[in-house]
This record gives sequence, C-alpha cells and structure tokens, in this order.
Amino acid sequence: MTTTAPATETNETAETAEIPEAAGTAEAGETPGTAAGGGLGTALTTAYSDALAEVYDEIYPATPDLEDIADFLLTLTASGASVLELGVGTGRVALPLADKGFRVHGVDSSEGMLARLAEKDPEGRITPVHADFAALDLGRTFDVVLAPFNSLCCAVAPDEQIALMHAVARHTAPDGHVVVETFDPSDYHVQKKNEISTYPVPGRGAMIESIGVLPASQNMMVHNTLFLDGEPPKSATTVMRYLWPSELDLLAGIARLELSARYSGWREQPFDGGDSRKMCVSVYRPLS
Ligand SMILES: C[S@@+](CC[C@H](N)C(=O)[O-])C[C@H]1O[C@@H](n2cnc3c(N)ncnc32)[C@H](O)[C@@H]1O
Repeated sequence: MTTTAPATETNETAETAEIPEAAGTAEAGETPGTAAGGGLGTALTTAYSDALAEVYDEIYPATPDLEDIADFLLTLTASGASVLELGVGTGRVALPLADKGFRVHGVDSSEGMLARLAEKDPEGRITPVHADFAALDLGRTFDVVLAPFNSLCCAVAPDEQIALMHAVARHTAPDGHVVVETFDPSDYHVQKKNEISTYPVPGRGAMIESIGVLPASQNMMVHNTLFLDGEPPKSATTVMRYLWPSELDLLAGIARLELSARYSGWREQPFDGGDSRKMCVSVYRPLS
C-alpha cells in the first residue's frame, strides 16, 4: 500500500461544523430520520444511540485495537491529515486519532452520543457534526473518510447504503483514502435463533442484547435492555444491514471508489478467513 502525504490547503475550509443548506442535517429536537435525506435506519439508530450513549463506553471499553487505527492511518497518510469519521459516537476512535495529530471531524445523528463526546473533549479537538451521514454535504473533502465499527451497516436498505457510499465518495480528496471496518457476516447469515449476549456495566448493572437475523434482506434486529441499579429497565431497538465484502466493493464501485487493500485487522493481518474476530478492514481510493 502506498503512503501519501496529507492533502494541503486545497481540500480545506475553516474548521467548522456548519453545514451548507439542504445538506440533510437534523436540527435539535427533530427526528434525524425525518430530516432531508434521512432514512428509516437513521431514525432507528439515532433513538437507539441516544438511549445507549450513557453506557456506551462501559459496554464497549477502549481496547488496544483503537490505538491501532491511528497507526493504520499513518500507513496511508501522515500525521496532520484531515479525517472525517462517520458515526463518531463518544469519540472512542476519534480521540486517539487526535492524540496522533489527525484533524478529525466526527459526524453523528445522535445528540446523546455527541454530548458524551463533548464531555470527553473539553478542548474541542474533534469538530462535531450533528447530521445524517448518508445525506451529508460539507462542501469539502478529507484526506481520509473513516467508517469504523460497522457504521456503514447502520443504513438498513440497499438504496440507503448506496446513498451513504456516494456521501463517502464526495467527501474523499482525489488522492485520499476511504477506510471501512465491517464484520464478516457469515455466521450471522446462517443463524437460526436469536443470539443473546450479556454485557456488564461495571458497578452499575448489565445490558442484555438479543440479535435476530433476516437473511433474505440481510437485516439484523438488535434489541438491548439496560438494567441499571435503582432504575427501571430501559430498552432500545435498532436494525442494521450487514454487508458482504464483495457487496461493499460493488457499492464502492457505484460511487467510483476502487478497492486498494483488505485486511482482517488494523495491523494489516491478511484477510484469509482465518481470523476469529471476523473483522474486515477495506481501503478504497477514488477512481480518477
Ligand atoms: C457502532 S457506533 C460506532 C461509534 C464509534 N465510531 C466507535 O467506534 O465507538 C455507530 C455510530 O454511528 C451513528 N450513526 C448511525 N447511523 C447514522 C447516520 N445515518 N448518520 C449519522 N450517524 C449515524 C450512531 O449514532 C453511532 O454513534
């Protein structure tokens, strides 16, 4: 894989979260899924993220893998490069990127997630963007567009996924990179019964997650119930659509992006089906 220097001022505008009109953003209090361009997936996932934002970092604690993402991006570009993270959440990925010198814009439709990010980032190192990423048009490009931790699977239907991939492409500099993390869905695709998992919320309770799969539409119904001490149980449901690696390449091709590398982890492990975590890290470049 080649290493490219970060783009210069040509792809930069002022560091701002302001979004041009008609860009499909959601105002506070409005259901993002009903904002221009927002789909069912956006509405569902936003409500789901708002419900889980307060425990998100406890359920998915920071792991060394997250530090690896910054090192992986440094194999593609240089410190100081601009990064657009789709689905920034609480900043689990974005903040370690900022530590390594990346200039990160983080998009999320969930005000709850962005509020947690703001608490963790009092210096404002990450530029938050409250918007539906499938309808995003910031009027500028980035050296890297990053969609970690299955964010692209939050679009629940093929037409939403195509719109999302076009949004990815229009924010990628001509010499930039698109980096997408998805999971290999082989096991889920043949799952016959709901998979139930329990996650501890340390010192406060637990979360039970149930995942059911509709293989014909590649949808996963994800239902979570939070049991926190002294509080009534709180439930949240969302839908995702899993993507096969070949399907991801097809979507990328529709948006004029071409696969340049694929790994099964952030340390460039070969993608050969031998990885038990079933991670799929795909790198795309814009077609000229
Ligand atoms: C699986 S979480 C990943 C968060 C973060 N990247 C991480 O690894 O911790 C996906 C995030 O994408 C956001 N999201 C899902 N669909 C979205 C959409 N259409 N527009 C903007 N954000 C969205 C969710 O609110 C959530 O915060």
